[in-house]
Amino acid sequence: MEGLPLEEDPNLLVGRETSDDAGVYRLSDEVALVQTIDFITPVVNDPYDFGRIAAANALSDVYAMGGRPLTAMNIVCFPVKDLDKQILKEILRGGLEKIHEAGAALVGGHSVEDPEIKYGLSVTGVVHPDRVLTNAGARPGDALILTKPLGTGILATAIKAGLVSEKAQGLAVETMAALNRKAAEIMVSYPLSACTDVTGFGLLGHTLEIATAGKVAITIYAERVPLLPEVLDSVRMGLLPAGSFANRNFCAGRIRQMRSIDPMLLDILADAQTSGGLLIFLPEESAWDLVGDLKAHGVPFAAVIGRVGAAGDTGMIEIA
Ligand code: CO
Ligand code: CO
Ligand code: CO
Repeated sequence: MEGLPLEEDPNLLVGRETSDDAGVYRLSDEVALVQTIDFITPVVNDPYDFGRIAAANALSDVYAMGGRPLTAMNIVCFPVKDLDKQILKEILRGGLEKIHEAGAALVGGHSVEDPEIKYGLSVTGVVHPDRVLTNAGARPGDALILTKPLGTGILATAIKAGLVSEKAQGLAVETMAALNRKAAEIMVSYPLSACTDVTGFGLLGHTLEIATAGKVAITIYAERVPLLPEVLDSVRMGLLPAGSFANRNFCAGRIRQMRSIDPMLLDILADAQTSGGLLIFLPEESAWDLVGDLKAHGVPFAAVIGRVGAAGDTGMIEIA
């Protein structure tokens, strides 16, 4: 969309400028709409799991804005002539389960015949206009909290190659299928600065979006970042998806290593995630309370993984 003119509507609170997770449009002093659409190709073989994951992934962008999902619409591409319709049914069943778990209602959808399966949602939610969490709000002295472990892109590749134990595979699927709802509901009672969710650009790419939009430098403590089991083994076998490799190259010029870091760990920090966790920014003095609260209420992997440095050296990531 680069080069296309920006909107000038004063009620458009969040538009395209800051690479945010969703658009936000003010309806009144009390209510703003949050709107997003996201659909993906299968990341797992089981159609029901794929449906759950794709829906959780789409709903997440509303949570990342501090919002609450209200309605969803299916968007589906499916080769109706070549594949059993039961597969499509299972995808939609998984998606609907997540929509309901989010407390939202399915109101319709659209499907297209296509040789490659794709599924996702367009989601509409609400947020108070004064409590919108954009990418631009991070401030020096904030801590970063990540709510899900990394490595889903690498593991999905390793799973396809049959190189992951059943246990690790199950955990990867459940991590991707988990809604960010609990984390979002808990975080909003804290004094938050910014929030996004970690998806296709990986932890490094999404952190750079925040650093750029907020004009700050951000330090990530590489060894404190929670990882899924068997991710390191998989990346050591050379299983880095093309998207993650591209992320790493894209971020390379804006990353400074403060000491020597295992290059495999850097690959994981750049790994493209599907339905990743929330990346929450808030003043450091409240961060440990929020992590404790998250861990006590069903978000077991939540961890403080970095901090926002002084302004000046902006739009950079330091890896410590
Ligand atoms: Co997002
Ligand atoms: Co998205
Ligand atoms: Co956001």
